[in-house]
Amino acid sequence: MMKIKIGKIELKNPVMVASGTFGYAKEFEKLVNLKHLGAIITKTITLNPRQGNPMPRICETASGMLNAIGLQNEGIDDFIKEKMPYLSKIGVPIIISISGNNIDEFFILARRLNKIKAISGIELNISCPNIKCRGLVAQDKKETYEVVKAVRKTTSKTVITKLSPNVTDITEIAKAAEDAGSDAVSLVNTFLGMAIDVETGKSKLGNITGGLSGPCIKPIALRMVHEVSRNIDIPVIGMGGIMNAGDAIEFILAGATAIQVGTANFIEPGVSGKIIKGIEAYLKKHKIKKFQDIIGRTT
Ligand SMILES: Cc1cc2nc3c(=O)[nH]c(=O)nc-3n(C[C@H](O)[C@H](O)[C@H](O)COP(=O)(O)O)c2cc1C
Repeated sequence: MMKIKIGKIELKNPVMVASGTFGYAKEFEKLVNLKHLGAIITKTITLNPRQGNPMPRICETASGMLNAIGLQNEGIDDFIKEKMPYLSKIGVPIIISISGNNIDEFFILARRLNKIKAISGIELNISCPNIKCRGLVAQDKKETYEVVKAVRKTTSKTVITKLSPNVTDITEIAKAAEDAGSDAVSLVNTFLGMAIDVETGKSKLGNITGGLSGPCIKPIALRMVHEVSRNIDIPVIGMGGIMNAGDAIEFILAGATAIQVGTANFIEPGVSGKIIKGIEAYLKKHKIKKFQDIIGRTT
């Protein structure tokens, strides 16, 4: 009823947990039945360790949150040694989110992960600075194409390209990822935003700006999923403010083949399990045999 395939990955249901909101899964083992998840996307790793941005890194906003973590992580060597043994044993598809300072770093990361059997796929976090021109890789269709192409050449694993909503036309970036051989696209990453403390006159984030997520971004994310899914042939994985099964179903009706739960994990760690059950209940109630039958039904 809920099975789905993304690239080579077979998922028992379409509910994944989003990168950066679920750590490396062990942090959630006592709060969530990890085996029930469709897939786990790990927090973005980079080639070398990164300290991340200055504090404070998180602030609450009306109906959402701002974060500027700055991709803090210990680098790929530590990840493989310290995190992979646990991730390998969970028994659900494990998708590793990677990011690089340039194409070579993406290439090296993908090549190293390609050798690890327990990894099902790679999600490319291309919301990283573009070294050829100002902005992010995900804001430039040529750079997006180049990064995806380089990764595609070096890995036989499923490649998912994660898109930024901070663009004028997200469809052209999705098309570039598809043309370069991405197996799927996931959208959206956070929206660039800021919040100011009026007493001090300072930004509430050490990095001044940060990424906005949560319920406030859902209508925009949903529109983007709707738009992209109509214009490409590879699966779209939707996310942005999904807090419950109803939200997840909206994304599926808009055209998402699977969904990711992000900020909601911080509010209610067990929410992904509830979303899986909620989607099942919806399918039964509406006498829908396979959940694929409702993907993109809202035209
Ligand atoms: C605290 C925090 C950390 C995040 N870290 C990452 C990350 O490391 N890599 C990434 O691709 N996305 C990261 N994201 C973005 C989420 O994966 C997701 O794309 C975004 O938050 C939108 O979904 P949501 O509204 O359900 O949270 C992070 C989001 C939050 C709130």
